[in-house]
Amino acid sequence: MNSMYSLRCVYNIHLKYILKYHVLRYKSNHSCKQEFIVYDQLMQKRRLQSKRSVLVQVCSENSCSDLYKYCSEFGGIKNMFHYQLAGTNHFVLTEFEDQTAVDALLNDSAHIEDSNVIAVRSPFLWFRSSSSKKTKLIMNNDMVQPFKVNEIMIEPNIKTIQFNKVESLSSQMMLLLESIQLNDIGSRLRFLTAIQIENALKGIFPLSKVLPFGSSVNSFGKIGSDIDLVLTNDKTNINKSSRLIYHGKCMSNNSRTQTQRHIELLGDLLQLFLPGCSKVKRISQAKVPIVKYSQDFVGVECDLTVSNETAVRMSELLYIFGCFDYRVRPLVFTIKMWAQQVNITNDTPGRWITNFSLTLLVLFYLQQENIIPPIQTLVKLAGSNDVHITDDGVNCTFLRDITKYSHKQTNSKSLEQLLLGFFEYFAAYDFNTNAISLNFGTVVAKPEYSALYIVNPLEVHFNVSKNVSPEELERFRIELRNAAWVIDSSIHSQNTLQLFDIFKSIEISKNIKKQNIFNYEYQTNTSNRLVTVKDLFVEDEHNKRLNTQLKNSKERKI
Ligand code: CTP
Ligand code: MG
Repeated sequence: MNSMYSLRCVYNIHLKYILKYHVLRYKSNHSCKQEFIVYDQLMQKRRLQSKRSVLVQVCSENSCSDLYKYCSEFGGIKNMFHYQLAGTNHFVLTEFEDQTAVDALLNDSAHIEDSNVIAVRSPFLWFRSSSSKKTKLIMNNDMVQPFKVNEIMIEPNIKTIQFNKVESLSSQMMLLLESIQLNDIGSRLRFLTAIQIENALKGIFPLSKVLPFGSSVNSFGKIGSDIDLVLTNDKTNINKSSRLIYHGKCMSNNSRTQTQRHIELLGDLLQLFLPGCSKVKRISQAKVPIVKYSQDFVGVECDLTVSNETAVRMSELLYIFGCFDYRVRPLVFTIKMWAQQVNITNDTPGRWITNFSLTLLVLFYLQQENIIPPIQTLVKLAGSNDVHITDDGVNCTFLRDITKYSHKQTNSKSLEQLLLGFFEYFAAYDFNTNAISLNFGTVVAKPEYSALYIVNPLEVHFNVSKNVSPEELERFRIELRNAAWVIDSSIHSQNTLQLFDIFKSIEISKNIKKQNIFNYEYQTNTSNRLVTVKDLFVEDEHNKRLNTQLKNSKERKI
C-alpha cells in the first residue's frame, strides 16, 4: 500500500479559487447527470491541467510564499497545493495559468552539478534556498502571505470517520464516500505522474501518450489507491496532408513478445533515469505485462502497461455508470470497504475477488433495481461519434454522453435498503449455474466452469473473475449472509446501526474463539485462507446458523 501522507492545500485567495470536491456535487435528487462531463473531455481537461503544472519539493510550508514569488516571474499562477509526505518531505503542486509558463520555467531551471546525477527534464523539481542576502531581504520586506492554507486528510483512515455523528446508515454511506473518495489534488497528482513518463518519451516517441485508467479515473477511486497507467500512441493529430513522412521500424509479428520487451525497456527507463521512481519491478510474464513502481514524490504505487486500450474504455464505461445516479458511488464504496474490512479482497493478486469484479457485481445489482440500464441500452443509443473500435478489434461503442439518455427514475430506495438488497441478492444467488451479464442486465447460463463468472462487458468471451476459487467464493457468500443478517436484525430490533458493525468479519469472531482455545493469532495476511477440514466443519455449522437466522427474519417480515 501507499505511504501515508497528510496533505495541505494552499490556494491563492486573490483568485477566489474554491476547491470543489466531488462529494459537494452530490445533490439530494436522484441524478448527477447535470454536472456530467464526457469522459474524454474530462481526461483532456486533467491532462491540460497537469501540463500547466510542476511539482516542487520545498524545505517546509514556509517556502510557499517564496516559491510563489519566484514562479510568478514565469507567468500567472492559478493554484498552489502544499502537502507533506511521511517524513519531512514537503511538496508544492503549482499550476500556472498557461503552459508556456511551465516551458519557460523548465528552460530556466538548472540541473545538479554532479557528474553522478543524470540530467533529466521532468515536471519534478526542488527549490534551493536563496543564498543571496539581498534576495532574502527583498523577500522579507515583502512578506505578504498570498495564500490561505487548508488542511486536508489524504490518507483515508476509516477509524477516524465519525459515523456515530450521523444517524442513518444511508448518511453514513455518504459520509464514507466523502471521506475516502479520490479528491481533486489526488487526481492532479495522478495525471502529473502520467505526464512525467509521457514527457520522458516524447523526444524519441512523439506520439506517445500516458493515461491513468482504472479506479484513478472511473469515479470509484479511493484516496491513496494505486495508479494504473497505460502507454498508448495518440494518432489523432497526424498530418495527413504532409508529403514528408518519418521513417520507422516495423513491429515484430509476435505482439506479446514485443509488449514484453517494451515493458523491460520502460522498466529500465524508470529505474535508471526518472526522478522519484523507485522499487521498479518488471512483470513481463503476466497475462497483461506490467511495470510496477513507486512514485516517491507523489507517494503512490503505479502499474504501467502498454497498449491496453480496452481497459481504458472499460474505465470510461464504469465512469458513466458512476454518474448515472447519486446512489451508485456510495454503494460501490461501501461494498468495497466492507470487502476490504472483512478480508475478502486483498491488495495482492490471488484467488480472491478483485475490487473490479466487486464493482461489476454492485452495478449488476443496480441493474436489477432498474437504477442503471443494461449496457446494451447504451449500445443501442450510441451515435456516430460514439463508435469506437480498438486497434485489436474490440468494439467499445456505447452512448458516451449520458445526458442524452432520458429515463424517469422510478426506484426511490434508500442507500440502506440498497445495501441490504445487495447482500441479500448475492447471498441467495445461484453462482453454480448462473453467470452475470451486465450487457443484458440479466443472469445468463455459465458458458464454462468457473466458480464466479462475470461476463467481461467489452470482451464478452472472457470471464472477469476467472481467478476466483470456489473457497474464496464460499467465504464471500458467508460474509454476504453475515452482513445481511447484521442489517436485518438491526432493522427488527430497531437498534441504530453503525457501518462499523457491518465491517466486522464473521472470520474475526471465529478466530477470536480460536485464539482463546489454541492461542491462535489472527492475521490479515493470506495464510489464514488455508482451511483445515475442521475449519470447514465449523464453517458449515456457522452457515447453518446464518441461514436459519436469515430465514427466520424473512418469515418475520412476511
Ligand atoms: N480491467 C479490465 N479487465 C479485467 C481487469 C481490469 O478491463 N479483467 C481494467 C478495468 O478498467 C479496471 C482497470 O483495468 O478498472 C484496473 O484494474 P484494477 O487495478 O484491478 O482495478 P481498479 O478498478 O483500478 O480497482 P483498485 O482500486 O482495486 O485498483
Ligand atoms: Mg487499480
